[in-house]
Formats: sequence, C-alpha cells, structure tokens
Amino acid sequence: MKSHNFAALATMPSALLSMVAAGYVWPDKYDYMEDIYMLQSGFNRMGFIDGILSCGFGQRVPGRQNSAEWIRTAYHDIATADVEAGTGGLDASIQFETERGENKGSAFNNTFGHFSGYYSPRSSVSDLLALAVVGSMAICGGYEIPLRVGRIDATEAGPMGVPEPQQDLPTHTAKFAKQGFNQTEMIELVACGHTLGSIHGANFPEITKDNSTGQVSHFEYGESATVFDNTVVHEYLASNTSNLLVAGSNDTLNSDKRIFGADKNVTMNLLSDNTYFQTRCQDVMTRMIDTVPKEVVLSDPIIARDIKPYINLLALNSNGSIDFSGYIRVRYGTNTKYPNADDLSAYLTYTDRNGNNFTKIISTTRPTWQAGTGAGFRGYTFVYFEWDTQLASESGIGSFHIHVTTKSTNTTQEYNNGGNGYPVQDKVLYQMKQSCASYTPNGAVYDGSLTIMAAVRSTEVPGHKQLNLHFDKHVSRQGVVLDAFETQIEAFNATGKTLTGYELFKIDGMYIGADSSGTTFSVVLGDTTVIDFKSINALTQQECATIG
Ligand code: HEM
Ligand SMILES: *[C@@H]1O[C@H](CO)[C@@H](O)[C@H](O)[C@H]1NC(C)=O
Ligand SMILES: *[C@@H]1O[C@H](CO)[C@@H](O)[C@H](O)[C@H]1NC(C)=O
Ligand SMILES: *[C@@H]1O[C@H](CO)[C@@H](O)[C@H](O)[C@H]1NC(C)=O
Ligand SMILES: *[C@@H]1O[C@H](CO)[C@@H](O)[C@H](O)[C@H]1NC(C)=O
Ligand SMILES: *[C@@H]1O[C@H](CO)[C@@H](O)[C@H](O)[C@H]1NC(C)=O
Ligand SMILES: *[C@@H]1O[C@H](CO)[C@@H](O)[C@H](O)[C@H]1NC(C)=O
Ligand SMILES: *[C@@H]1O[C@H](CO)[C@@H](O)[C@H](O)[C@H]1NC(C)=O
Ligand SMILES: *[C@@H]1O[C@H](CO)[C@@H](O)[C@H](O)[C@H]1NC(C)=O
Ligand SMILES: *[C@@H]1O[C@H](CO)[C@@H](O)[C@H](O)[C@H]1NC(C)=O
Ligand SMILES: *[C@@H]1O[C@H](CO)[C@@H](O)[C@H](O)[C@H]1NC(C)=O
Repeated sequence: MKSHNFAALATMPSALLSMVAAGYVWPDKYDYMEDIYMLQSGFNRMGFIDGILSCGFGQRVPGRQNSAEWIRTAYHDIATADVEAGTGGLDASIQFETERGENKGSAFNNTFGHFSGYYSPRSSVSDLLALAVVGSMAICGGYEIPLRVGRIDATEAGPMGVPEPQQDLPTHTAKFAKQGFNQTEMIELVACGHTLGSIHGANFPEITKDNSTGQVSHFEYGESATVFDNTVVHEYLASNTSNLLVAGSNDTLNSDKRIFGADKNVTMNLLSDNTYFQTRCQDVMTRMIDTVPKEVVLSDPIIARDIKPYINLLALNSNGSIDFSGYIRVRYGTNTKYPNADDLSAYLTYTDRNGNNFTKIISTTRPTWQAGTGAGFRGYTFVYFEWDTQLASESGIGSFHIHVTTKSTNTTQEYNNGGNGYPVQDKVLYQMKQSCASYTPNGAVYDGSLTIMAAVRSTEVPGHKQLNLHFDKHVSRQGVVLDAFETQIEAFNATGKTLTGYELFKIDGMYIGADSSGTTFSVVLGDTTVIDFKSINALTQQECATIG
C-alpha cells in the first residue's frame, strides 16, 4: 500500500484557501449549506463526512465505496446536460432515473439515502451532490475544488443519454461535447472519474465475468482505487492495467481504451505527471459540478466563515425577561488570524431594540464538550464561545457585535458584520420551551402533532397583520428516495395571555403526519419572516412547558 500524506495536502497552499470571505453578512441564505460543508467533527458537528470517513469507506458492504458512488452519481446527473440549450446538469434529476439501464446499480439510491439527514429547503439534493464531490475529493486526496451553491432540483426525470461502455468513440465524443467537454477534457474527466472505485459484477457481469455478490474489479491495482491519483493513467500507458474498460476481453466494451487513446495518447502522456493530473482534475471536476440549467445562478464559492454566530434561544422566560443564548464560531489555525484557539476569548456587546448603545457586555465561555472545537474537510478548524444571559424585555435587543480577544497580546478585534451589527429581531419570539412535537400510535402508523408558541410584542399586534406558521411539509414521491417539500401555512391563534409587553400566540396540536423527522418551519408576521428555518427535531424530546 502506498503511503499518502493527507495532512500535507490539507495545508497545501491553494488559491481558494487564501480567498477572503469578502462581503459575507450574517444571516445568509446559504449559512446552512456552509454548516453542512464546514462542520464535520467536534462541537456542533453536522457529520456529512460520515459517509466518507475514509476514501474506501462503504459501511463494510462488500464492493461498496461511497466516495466513488457519490462522484459517479454526480456525473450521471450531469451526463445528460445540453450546455448549449442550457438544460440539465447538476439538478438531481437522476433521482427519478434510477431504474434506467444506463444507471445500473444501487449507488444512486445509496447516495440519496446518505443525504436524508441534510436535505432541506435550504440544501437542495443537487447542492448536496456538489458537496459530495467536493468532500470526496478532499478525503481521497484530490486538489481542493470550490463549492458553489444555489442549485435547484428538477421535479421530474430528464432525457436519457448517459454514456455506456458499448457505445463507440464518436458517440461518446458527441455526448461529452453536449455536456460542455471537448475531446481533451473528455479524456481528462474520464481519467479523473476512474481513478476511484470499480466495476461491479452485479451491475456489469458481461465486463467482470463474475456476477457474485460484492464482486468488484477496481479501475486501478491494489489500494490505489481508494486514492485520487493518476495510477489509472500510468497503468494504461504501461499496458498493464486492472481497468476492465481498457483491458476487458470484449473490445466492444473497452470504452476507456477508446477514449484514452482518442488523441494518440497526447493527453494521457501529459496526465502522467501527477501535478498536471491533479490540476486538470481540479478544473474539469469543478466544471462538472458547476454545470447547471441556465436559470440557476450559482453563488460565489463558499469560504469558511471567520466569524459566525448561532442563536439557540431568544424567548420570554417565566420572569418576564428574555432568555438569550447561543454561541460564536471563530475560525482558527495555521494561515488564519488566530493560530491558537487556547489564546482566545470572546464577548458580545449589544444595542437595545431601538438601536441605542449599551455598554453592557455579554460574556462567553468555551464549551467543555469536545473542548469547544470542531473541524471540517482539509484542516479547517473552529473554536466556539457560548453565552447564556437574560435581557430586559422592555428594551430587548436590536443587534450585537462580537469581540475576539487574543489573550497573549491583550488585543481585541471587534466584528460588526459589515457595519450593521449582527441583527436580532425581538418583535416575535419563538417560545421553544413551550413548543413540542409528539407522535401517537394510530394502528400501523403514527400521528404526529406539533405545538408552537410565539410571543408577539404588543405594539406589533394591532392592525391586520397575520401571524402564520410556514411548515415545510415532506411529501413522498413514487420511485424517489427523498421527499419533496410543500409549504403548509397555518394561522396562529391568540391565547389571550400577555406577558411584559408581549402577547402569546399558539399553533395547538397541528397534524404533521407520521414521517416529519427533520422538518423545518418558519414564522411569518404579515409579509416578514420573523423566525427563520427552525427544525422540529429538538421539539420531539420535550413536553410543552407552560408560561404566562
Ligand atoms: C464514456 C464515459 C463513461 C463510461 C462508459 C463509464 C462507465 C462506467 C462503468 C461501466 C462503471 C462501473 C459501474 C458499476 O459497476 O457500478 C463506472 C464506474 C465509475 N465511474 Fe464511470 N464511465 C464514464 C465516465 C465517467 C466519468 C466522466 C466519471 C466522473 C468524472 C465517472 C466516474 C465513475 C466512478 C467514480 C465509478 C466507480 C463507481 C463505484 O465504484 O461504485 N465515470 N463507469
Ligand atoms: C479543449 O479545450 C481546451 C481549453 O480551451 C484546449 O486547451 C484544448 O486544446 C481543447 N481540445 C481540443 C481537442 O479541442
Ligand atoms: C449469475 O450468472 C449465472 C450464470 O450465468 C446465472 O445463472 C445467475 O442467475 C446469475 N446470478 C445473478 C444474481 O444474476
Ligand atoms: C497509446 O497507449 C497505449 C497503451 O500504452 C498503446 O497500446 C497505444 O498503442 C498507444 N497509442 C498510440 C497511438 O501511440
Ligand atoms: C502489472 O502491474 C501489477 C501491479 O502493479 C504487478 O503486480 C504486475 O507484476 C504487473 N505485470 C506485469 C506483466 O508487469
Ligand atoms: C461484446 O459486447 C457486445 C455489446 O454488449 C455484444 O453485442 C457482443 O455480443 C459481445 N461479444 C462477445 C463475444 O461476447
Ligand atoms: C429571573 O430573573 C432574575 C433576575 O433578573 C434572574 O436572576 C433569574 O435567573 C431569572 N429566572 C429565570 C428562570 O429566568
Ligand atoms: C454607538 O456606538 C457607535 C460606535 O461606538 C457609534 O458610532 C454610534 O454613534 C453609537 N450610537 C448611539 C445611538 O449612541
Ligand atoms: C488589556 O487591555 C485593556 C484595554 O484594552 C486593559 O483595560 C486591560 O487592563 C489589559 N489587560 C491586561 C492583562 O493587560
Ligand atoms: C430507488 O429508490 C426508489 C424509492 O424507494 C425506488 O422506487 C427505486 O426502485 C430505487 N432504485 C433502485 C435502482 O433500486
Ligand atoms: C385555532 O383555534 C380554533 C378554535 O379553537 C381551532 O379550531 C384551531 O385548530 C386553532 N388553530 C391552531 C393552528 O391551533
């Protein structure tokens, strides 16, 4: 087995790493995607990495390699793009196409199964597919590719047309041209894809000559199929390869052989230099995931945010003051402003709801859980500082600033979120402790029931502004692993109870079906979203407390 130093790769200088998160203002509609991308382990982890704990990881299912399955899924999704027409691309239409002969195997549904804990109205299947490629490249040792987001999922199958081994070179060349890749780039993209994984006897017995369960033929000898490197190129050029799309016994099925040799080996000879190979893969793999339908506008690359706040609770307590808790995430480590997490401390200052300055400070402590630190792909590291305080409900809060102190130099940097402070609205408070979700058996199924309480500041109640719950209901789809979302709107009822300048409103035991785990909701006052994108998961672990 070859040894590969991924720690060295992680700290490799890269144009991406040195880019500044220019203009990032919190909150941002892609904050949730940034969390899924950045928070792999430790405090506050999302754990998207769990499917690719190593490049060869596959839940111990014989023949399964998730990193390879994820990349193949992304390619099959874009393979039917028509870049000139601006249709297709990474739009997750592949979800509807798993029964097609051109999409053989369980890789596609396996991939969507992994996404179920991450997929939401803020994280489309197609953006998660892009992340799956970005993460796999990171874990397997490819160069860093940027994650842009904003993809919109297709709601039905797209056209057929994924390349298949028995098709001839002109057919493949034409298909790649339609996808936006010329002959050189076709050779590169196939070599970059076929550096990982294998051909499965269960899917292509005519190629592997063995259909037994779990049988695979790797594209590269030995352990190399679990490393993103150019062994596939070297083996091809040496005419000694385990790639059965080159050296298979039925030449009609040797599509890699035809593609690799399409320009008399000029490109393959260039790719035999590993740095060149990595650079070209970085380019064509990026272009692969950024191939999107023309109506999609992709974001700038998501860069690890240097400073990011999270609010856990902003709610009236039984005292009539406002509980305010959350944490600040600070990026630290080599090549950042803060090399040493242990040298840091943080506090907040805040304005009241009328924007008047308070000299009052909210102090924070570093959590003990996981030492208050976490990590993402490629050595991104974060340290957290949490606060838990009470605010006077008469004056409330309008915004806060974050102050990070470097203890050794006794210098403090103030972060003001691009000049406006980190905004907090206290017109409507989500009374999380008075909210709950429960499931009661009803024959073979369960009936889910959701109760949400909100406190509306009395000055906001008059007029005809309606307070509505927007519930992102899951709607299951025939033939597709992941559900669709549909916004279900319910009006809150006034409870008639008031508490220090707030009136309490309630959604009381709304029916939410059996399978609403992970479902999110928002609260809208008039036309304004006042409570944004909360998960009901925390509510299933508690009874509804009373207040007022
Ligand atoms: C003419 C074009 C292509 C053909 C005919 C082709 C064909 C195949 C075949 C027959 C397999 C075996 C699948 C299985 O047994 O489950 C495979 C696997 C794979 N392909 Fe391709 N492929 C092509 C292009 C690409 C491209 C452009 C990529 C990505 C950039 C890619 C990525 C992969 C990966 C990662 C695997 C391994 C999957 C696993 O181990 O589960 N392929 N390909
Ligand atoms: C494909 O495009 C690249 C980039 O423009 C170019 O360098 C290369 O020569 C092209 N290959 C062919 C076969 O046209
Ligand atoms: C495997 O191949 C054998 C011989 O061709 C055939 O009898 C058998 O049904 C195949 N098994 C599967 C699971 O396809
Ligand atoms: C390309 O390389 C392969 C593998 O070494 C070889 O079999 C083939 O003859 C080469 N083609 C040309 C045109 O040199
Ligand atoms: C082909 O490559 C494999 C793996 O590197 C090696 O074990 C084998 O000896 C090679 N065969 C020949 C004929 O060179
Ligand atoms: C080779 O594969 C082609 C395409 O699947 C098939 O039509 C042909 O019968 C195969 N030849 C042999 C000898 O198996
Ligand atoms: C009630 O208010 C007092 C003083 O403001 C505070 O110390 C106490 O923690 C509050 N209790 C609750 C349950 O919030
Ligand atoms: C709050 O403080 C900022 C900066 O210290 C200052 O520019 C601003 O005028 C102050 N606002 C009020 C209302 O005192
Ligand atoms: C750190 O600096 C602040 C003012 O910026 C000062 O009040 C404080 O005494 C200093 N602390 C130490 C330990 O020097
Ligand atoms: C993928 O999952 C869907 C939904 O369960 C199912 O209908 C479809 O047949 C599956 N595809 C494959 C190839 O198993
Ligand atoms: C609002 O109150 C009415 C009358 O009691 C009740 O039928 C309805 O279910 C309540 N709505 C919600 C969302 O709780």
